[in-house]
Amino acid sequence: MNNCKLIIGASGQIGTELTVHLRQIYGNSSVIASDIKESETLMKSGTFELLDATDKDAIRNIIEKYDISEVYLMAAMLSVTAEKYPKKAWDLNMNSLLHILELAKDGVIKKVFWPSSIAVFGNSTPHVNTPQKTIMEPTTVYGISKLAGERWCAYYKSKYNVDVRSLRYPGIISWKTKPGGGTTDYAVEIYHKALSEGEYSCFLTENTRLPMMYMDDAVAATENLMNADLPDTYTSYNIAAINFTPHEIAKSIQKHIPNFKISYSPDFRQQIAESWPESIDDSQAKKDWNWQHKFSLEEMTITMLNNLK
Ligand code: SER
Repeated sequence: MNNCKLIIGASGQIGTELTVHLRQIYGNSSVIASDIKESETLMKSGTFELLDATDKDAIRNIIEKYDISEVYLMAAMLSVTAEKYPKKAWDLNMNSLLHILELAKDGVIKKVFWPSSIAVFGNSTPHVNTPQKTIMEPTTVYGISKLAGERWCAYYKSKYNVDVRSLRYPGIISWKTKPGGGTTDYAVEIYHKALSEGEYSCFLTENTRLPMMYMDDAVAATENLMNADLPDTYTSYNIAAINFTPHEIAKSIQKHIPNFKISYSPDFRQQIAESWPESIDDSQAKKDWNWQHKFSLEEMTITMLNNLK
């Protein structure tokens, strides 16, 4: 058995760095990257296939061609774009997952990673230290698709014994590949603008607190979860790292760029942000697979500014 891994949606923000990381650990030839758009970085370091995540036959062909045993399904339409194209977002986010779960049920693949999100929570969820198990009434198309996805994962796990693992990622911050179409994207844009223009106009209000995480922590969490010997309780775990407001991230940038200015002109994204938690209780992840983040806001700011310079 070859034991290859396939990353679907590898050219995206998390997909790119997850692929690079897994190639470093398991070898370039053991990690196949795929996406509807090409990635120069990934094409240089290993095999890359153009793949539409909603095309079940194409996915199956690639899985058979490379003897894939593990799939990381990173393709998704994020919160802001999904509000513009609700039907398209639902089709992409749901059908891609159901295709992969079916292939796992049929024994074609052995293990699945599927990212969930803090977007599964809604206005009625306790916003501070949001528990693993709580009220979930998401108001965005993206959140609805992620909550439905979580339930599908749990269903395939209990009914068909599918090994599917999932994390509720907070906003992910990184410098290598830009995010696209998310509400938490401001926390990446702000670093780019601080360096290129010395100022940033934020689409959220200054005190909007959201859970966030530096990319290295997100990639480590994914790898650790996939290798852990897990109890049977949860398929989708809360994970936390840092949380901050636009005002606080601006302050941390000003320590390094004293003249950096931030202004606020909140738009429709404010409402999405307000429906999400401010902070996350990840004690279950800590208990079940020893999850622990590394990057603080300050360390992240230094890393972001140094690399983007
Ligand atoms: N980063 C995502 C978004 O903002 C949340 O999972 O849509």
